[in-house]
Amino acid sequence: MLAPFAPGHVGIITGAASGIGLATALRLAGMGMKLVLVDINEDKLAKAEEAVAAAAGDHGANVLPVILSVDDPDGFSALAHDVEARWEAPTFLMNNAAMFVHGGAGGILDSLQTWRRIFDINLFGIIHGVQAFLPGMLASGKRSMIVNTGSKQGLTNPPGNPAYNSVKAAVNSYTQNLAHDLRNREEGLVSAHLLVPGWTTTGDQSPQPGAWSADQVADYMLTHLAHEDFYIICPDNETSSEMDKKRVLWQALDLIENRPALSRWHPDHKDAFAQFMVKDLADLLPRK
Ligand SMILES: NC(=O)c1ccc[n+]([C@@H]2O[C@H](COP(=O)([O-])OP(=O)(O)OC[C@H]3O[C@@H](n4cnc5c(N)ncnc54)[C@H](O)[C@@H]3O)[C@@H](O)[C@H]2O)c1
Repeated sequence: MLAPFAPGHVGIITGAASGIGLATALRLAGMGMKLVLVDINEDKLAKAEEAVAAAAGDHGANVLPVILSVDDPDGFSALAHDVEARWEAPTFLMNNAAMFVHGGAGGILDSLQTWRRIFDINLFGIIHGVQAFLPGMLASGKRSMIVNTGSKQGLTNPPGNPAYNSVKAAVNSYTQNLAHDLRNREEGLVSAHLLVPGWTTTGDQSPQPGAWSADQVADYMLTHLAHEDFYIICPDNETSSEMDKKRVLWQALDLIENRPALSRWHPDHKDAFAQFMVKDLADLLPRK
């Protein structure tokens, strides 16, 4: 078992009442970890607490449900003090909570209030988690991991939801910087990782054939953390890893070949993109 996930070690998961956060909490409870479940949805959090306690088989002694909105930095600091006083610093922090603004409402002209709110929750929510818990994680001397949940929308930028795409791109950038900072101190004792789920059935949705389940995402993440991967980019039942890599490569080539922004969706480049996608990835990459 990977050191951060040892029995008795502490894990903090935000957005833990549902979906990918809950699926991860259930896996870690099964490994004997103590878990802090952070969420804003009281009803779902109460149900999640029951399910996680059942998975742990300990009648809830090692599960701490916390109602906290991740855009509250003071609440996060207080939580870090509580957790360290009650148990100890976490060896696993998963900054996973996010809000989604459905595209089409205003798009690029969504209200400033909407833009600020999505950055407060989806980006600052992550920064708050790191600022509150990282000092204790570094001081603990234990091998620890931080996972931030991004999105393919932050990597390849499909049009339709500019606020969500922009904030997830910022999560990607922030997490790269975090990983770089951490590997240059304390001998890499704490590492950072970017989880990028594919299309995943979560929340109150009914399962869709093209989507993965939250359990599949949690298992994929844990497998790739065991390999110490930074980028954990999940496929789904419609999009293979090879397709993801080609889309990311096309996006990077926009810049190198001076094509228009988001050329994948530009009528002049549509056919070229379609032809690119049917080529073998090996033929598109520089020869080693
Ligand atoms: N489901 C997908 O297809 C998909 C794809 C890519 C990325 N993601 C990302 O995965 C992560 C988890 O989402 P999910 O799909 O499991 O959704 P979900 O709705 O099942 O779970 C999200 C949880 O976050 C909580 N939450 C929302 N705002 C919060 C706040 N301010 N403070 C604390 N908790 C808050 C919600 O109450 C909910 O329980 C998110 O970062 C999301 O952007 C999801």
